[in-house]
Amino acid sequence: MTMLFVNATQVVTCSGPGRARRGAEMSDASVLTDAAVAVEGKKIVRVGPAEILLREYAEAEQVDCAGCVLTPGLVDSHTHAIFGRPRYEEQEMRAAGVGYMDIARRGGGIHSSVSDLRTRSEDDLFALALPRVLRLASYGSTTIEVKSGYGLSVEDELKSLRVIQRLGRELPVRLVPTWLGAHEIPREFREREGQRGDYVRYLIDEMLPQVAAEKLASFADVFCEPGVFSVEESREILSASRGAGLSLKLHADELEPHGGAELAAELGATSADHLAAISDAGIAALAQSNTVATLLPGTMVFLGKEKHAPARRLIDAGTAVALATDFNPGTSPTFNFPLILTFGVSQLHMSVAETLIAATVNGAAALGLANRTGQLAAGYSADLALWEAEDIREIPYWYGDRRCMGTWARGKACHARRPSDNLNYTHRHNSTMRG
Ligand code: NIG
Ligand code: FE
Repeated sequence: MTMLFVNATQVVTCSGPGRARRGAEMSDASVLTDAAVAVEGKKIVRVGPAEILLREYAEAEQVDCAGCVLTPGLVDSHTHAIFGRPRYEEQEMRAAGVGYMDIARRGGGIHSSVSDLRTRSEDDLFALALPRVLRLASYGSTTIEVKSGYGLSVEDELKSLRVIQRLGRELPVRLVPTWLGAHEIPREFREREGQRGDYVRYLIDEMLPQVAAEKLASFADVFCEPGVFSVEESREILSASRGAGLSLKLHADELEPHGGAELAAELGATSADHLAAISDAGIAALAQSNTVATLLPGTMVFLGKEKHAPARRLIDAGTAVALATDFNPGTSPTFNFPLILTFGVSQLHMSVAETLIAATVNGAAALGLANRTGQLAAGYSADLALWEAEDIREIPYWYGDRRCMGTWARGKACHARRPSDNLNYTHRHNSTMRG
């Protein structure tokens, strides 16, 4: 089936090389007017002047994008969507001055999500995760990375990864599974004094071989942070994971500078994520590497931190920067990727074009998919998002609003909304200005 997306006020293609955009390359999102996009089956076949495409694809089914902006589907390259109950009790604890790591030391945080997930069946977790992933997609994402990491035993990690596999089979959105068995040292290993190394061995010798044998994950990830996994432990786990055929990610320098960014660069990880506490040496290491710096400003906002990842310094040093939601029950319970773009502008001092490249091309690069998705260009996967906006700058501007009108992943419609009533009062500014 051929589809022609026509009448969009702007078509933002993000087109260019099928690899991460670095430094100044992030400043051009490529905004076209009077343009159309032709899709055949799962692929984009043409992007060009509407006048010409309307003639060439006269028989195509038309998707009327009037009054809207068309962009590549967003790529959310960092989520922890497989969990049981939410953890709202921790929000007030933090407000009262108990830190994220203090809550973890008291048995809350990741530990409490682990205790909860272990009691749940695969079907139960699937039923909880399905609407969450749909909700994430309804904000504009057509590719979503999903981590395990609340199981921390062979059985419970495999159960989590199987849920991701099932979701990927049932939903039109593209899901990318990541094994995060090294999200925390589970209590049963922490309680054995001096035996934390046993958990690292258990991860490498018992869990990883099964994850790899069942092909349940594309990536391995580690929470490298003081009090969780050290740089040496992270290196050991990630090296073994690479040996088992997985690509690498790292939760690096989230709260304290710890050498995580340097380790990600050293190992050739596909991405280093968080980086709010990255050191100067870490910035230099990433700038010289092919590792994408995935920044998660929603996490710092939700944790009430004033510190943010130094996005400007990273971009100016020539690093490829991506943005993602970090959707999880502890530090970033948001479905709203466009809100993360707002934080990209207001907290990280990025331009709108930079935030959009960070959420499309560079998000795709953070998943090793930059030659397949993240841009509107011939040959790319037909992954598109339609926004209730006349100008691309409105996406981060109407902050917290759900402006996404529809998404298509691999040419298949994922969801569609009717134009909301507020179109009238947010979109008629021109007439008011003319008085
Ligand atoms: O990315 N930092 C580690 N992992 C998650 C939070 C996990 C949790 O608190 O449940 C993060 O912020
Ligand atoms: Fe995370």
